[in-house]
Amino acid sequence: MIKIAPSILSADFANLARDVGKIAAADYVHVDVMDGLFVPNITIGIPVVKALRPTTALPLDVHLMIERPLRYVGQFCDAGADLVTCHVEADTEENTRAALAEIHAKGKRAGVVLKPRTPAEAVLPFLDDCDIVLVMTVEPGFGGQSFMADMMPKVAQIRAWIDERGLDCELEVDGGVSLKTRDACVNAGANVLVAGSAVYGADDIPARIAALRG
Ligand code: DX5
Ligand code: ZN
Repeated sequence: MIKIAPSILSADFANLARDVGKIAAADYVHVDVMDGLFVPNITIGIPVVKALRPTTALPLDVHLMIERPLRYVGQFCDAGADLVTCHVEADTEENTRAALAEIHAKGKRAGVVLKPRTPAEAVLPFLDDCDIVLVMTVEPGFGGQSFMADMMPKVAQIRAWIDERGLDCELEVDGGVSLKTRDACVNAGANVLVAGSAVYGADDIPARIAALRG
């Protein structure tokens, strides 16, 4: 089954609880955390995750676009994140491994994220320890960018490794996912689709979520 993770980066930040309520038909709430260093934008932090937690029954899928996420993963878990993903480019292999272990020690699901220029092979040191792998289909930092179709071979390669190893690992794509691009993602093997503008820009949000799920 395809899961939909609307990104609240496209929500109205002055009405976040209301806008999280609009996506109750989705599978995850995708929360984009940016620190102004790893990416050139600053968004949501730990207090907002904590404030959002009681507003929805959906799992919070927290995408950390921050330098050295090991410093904060425990706090995001304590704030109520259910899945926490860290960029492989954001720290050393040893520290990324430690971040995954800390998320698991908190009883939460953990994963790694690859930027567009990072090759598929970068997941290999972590794959057996991941509950989810996120492949960026735009440069991280902003919503509303164009989908990078040339990431599909990377998605397909990672899907092949997950299946070969028989792993219980989800494969998520993020950036520019719309009704036009969702088939390419699903055909390449993604099972979780993040969508910001494609969900929050719709007149009928539950219908858009259903259409994206397919
Ligand atoms: C980009 C974020 C995405 C973004 C997706 O750095 O990670 O989650 O919100 O937005 P759309 O779906 O509009 O490309
Ligand atoms: Zn994201």
